[in-house]
Amino acid sequence: MKSKDIQVLINGQEFKAKEGELVIDIARRNGIFIPALCYEESLKPYGACRMCIVEIKNEGVKKKITTSCTLQAFDGLSIETDSEEVLKHRKVLLELYLAQAPNSSKLKELALRYGVNRTRFRQKIRDDDPLNNSCVLCGLCVRVCSEVMSAGVINFIGRGEKTRVNTPYFEQSELCLGCRACAEVCPTGAIEFRDDGDIRIAASWSNTKVELKKCSMCGKYYAPVKLDKKIDTLYYYKDRDDELRDMCPDCRRKAIARKMTLIAENEVEKYAK
Ligand code: SF4
Ligand code: FES
Repeated sequence: MKSKDIQVLINGQEFKAKEGELVIDIARRNGIFIPALCYEESLKPYGACRMCIVEIKNEGVKKKITTSCTLQAFDGLSIETDSEEVLKHRKVLLELYLAQAPNSSKLKELALRYGVNRTRFRQKIRDDDPLNNSCVLCGLCVRVCSEVMSAGVINFIGRGEKTRVNTPYFEQSELCLGCRACAEVCPTGAIEFRDDGDIRIAASWSNTKVELKKCSMCGKYYAPVKLDKKIDTLYYYKDRDDELRDMCPDCRRKAIARKMTLIAENEVEKYAK
């Protein structure tokens, strides 16, 4: 069923939206910044970090402060993203997260945006933390790995204060595709990968190693072999150009440009005859 067109007010400004759309998406689409640690568009909203809170200004609404990543828009909804109340809560949250992930420069940057440059809470520093004391346990890496990539390489380990994210028993994983999706979605920049010749090393995930594929043209190692095979099984198309498939993105672009030029030259020749 088609969603109804509605109007919402964000910080006193009117915006068009669809009924049921998430408020965080409407704000982002219109260039309004709402901080978020556990929201990622490709995954279902989770509502865990509370960083994205907003204040509802409509009369008769019971819960005035709520998470914008779970709030569904309705016609006439009016919210404020940085009201006094919101900022008060957000600053405390930032202090809590700074204590949990004291080494995350991304988090420090976000905190500074709200004038927070220190934390009153006890910092949880662990020696030899594979996530460099930068993880806020938002769970995005775990979810993207299982729900989007269907790989299930990492998970939460331990309980309470001892909870961490990593591979089971902190052992190297056979399942890792080396796709780096976890690092892409991590809001604190906690996850480290590095490429060493034909091997990609998931340094944060128990130094799991993944073989890389070589470009047939320039010889550069550019994509994990396992990921390439997975894409092949999922999106195999019979008319694919095998020559292009084994090239790195740079060489592929150049080869396509060459092919297009040849086609254009042939066409010109045909007309010239
Ligand atoms: S490593 Fe990053 S994405 Fe994973 S739980 Fe920690 S903060 Fe979230
Ligand atoms: S981003 Fe909304 S609760 Fe985490």
